[in-house]
Amino acid sequence: MPILRNISQLATCPPGHSQEDAGLVSQAAVAWRDGTVRWVGPYQQMPAEFAGEPAVDCEHRLVVPGLVDCHTHLCFGGWRGDEFEARLRGASYQEIAAGGGGISRTVAATRGASLGELQRKAHAALEAILRLGVTTLECKSGYGLDEANELKQLEVYRRLDALQPIDLVPTFLGAHVVPPEHRKNRERYVDLLCDRLIPLVVRQGLARFCDVFVEEGAYTVDEARRILGTAKAHGLGLKVHAEQLSAGGGALLAAEMGAVSAEHLEYASDAAIEALAAAGTVAVSLPLASLYLGDRYLPAREMLKAGLRVAVATDFNPGSAPSYHLPLAMALACLNQSMTPQEVLMGATTVAARALSLQDRVGSLLPGYQADLAIIDAPTLSHWLYHFVPNACLHVLKNGRWVT
Ligand code: NIG
Ligand code: FE
Repeated sequence: MPILRNISQLATCPPGHSQEDAGLVSQAAVAWRDGTVRWVGPYQQMPAEFAGEPAVDCEHRLVVPGLVDCHTHLCFGGWRGDEFEARLRGASYQEIAAGGGGISRTVAATRGASLGELQRKAHAALEAILRLGVTTLECKSGYGLDEANELKQLEVYRRLDALQPIDLVPTFLGAHVVPPEHRKNRERYVDLLCDRLIPLVVRQGLARFCDVFVEEGAYTVDEARRILGTAKAHGLGLKVHAEQLSAGGGALLAAEMGAVSAEHLEYASDAAIEALAAAGTVAVSLPLASLYLGDRYLPAREMLKAGLRVAVATDFNPGSAPSYHLPLAMALACLNQSMTPQEVLMGATTVAARALSLQDRVGSLLPGYQADLAIIDAPTLSHWLYHFVPNACLHVLKNGRWVT
């Protein structure tokens, strides 16, 4: 039974804890066998039976659960650096989208890329993401927006899940925007999603969740209700991109439909916060999108006070959040959402796992959990999130095996 010892601070991140308490243990050790955590606690209290087992010395460093990035748009063709520059010159994200840029441009680039090209590009990103300490990652479709190209993105995820160590959790986002060829008759595309694409994706086992972007220029609340209702009837879990650029009603819909998570929520009202708290829906904060769009951050303090759980994720995509750096998103959540380091770590581990309905398997370092962890080159959690370096993660254990 391999053992990790001389851990200066171990974050256990129990799913039942209040978010402000990451279950920190000083001078700790962890033992695992066959991919599962068997024991965690202060080294002094380690059971005698483990004494002769092979041990790795952490040299007085921080150990955290493998990070969970619960919101990415990992697979896409092309990039949009020119739009980044246009925004710096004063154009807004919405103006660029209305002029034919934005998500629609990435749809065209993704349709034009082969499965192999998309797979290689996403694989390279995953290799870098793993080295940051991420061991579980949600990934959305939504840049295909027709049958062949939505399936192509989801097939990239299916293949990559088998080819590399990070566990991938695929989400069907066929309702990202209305594709250009259906703009004159939106209802026909919603019919296609409900009558054909959702049943097909479920039959082929290609997604665990369905997401809809509720916003001016994307989907209305009524359209989203129909799409999410269909997805639910087919057994998919629900997510909503809600209140990102305006208060559009997506959060109330997420609560009404029993969505597992509502994402963005930068413009969430008090009523929306209350409804999400009552429904037990996780709020997913995406501080990199706020940073890149120069827009407001989600009201984390109000949410935590209302009893909502707040996850922290990257939103990695070529437009609003062109970075997969989850520890950077975590530092931003401290600095711009006034979340404490413990709240943020919980948000990128067990709360993020809850946003994927995986909180019983990943996101915590407790007996019975998957042996996924990261050794961080910092003595404490607060030191890690305050002293930002390109990558503080030294080694990653995934399913009980060292993968970096
Ligand atoms: O989560 N809001 C909608 N979708 C993405 C942006 C996608 C893009 O700009 O390509 C988001 O921010
Ligand atoms: Fe997103």
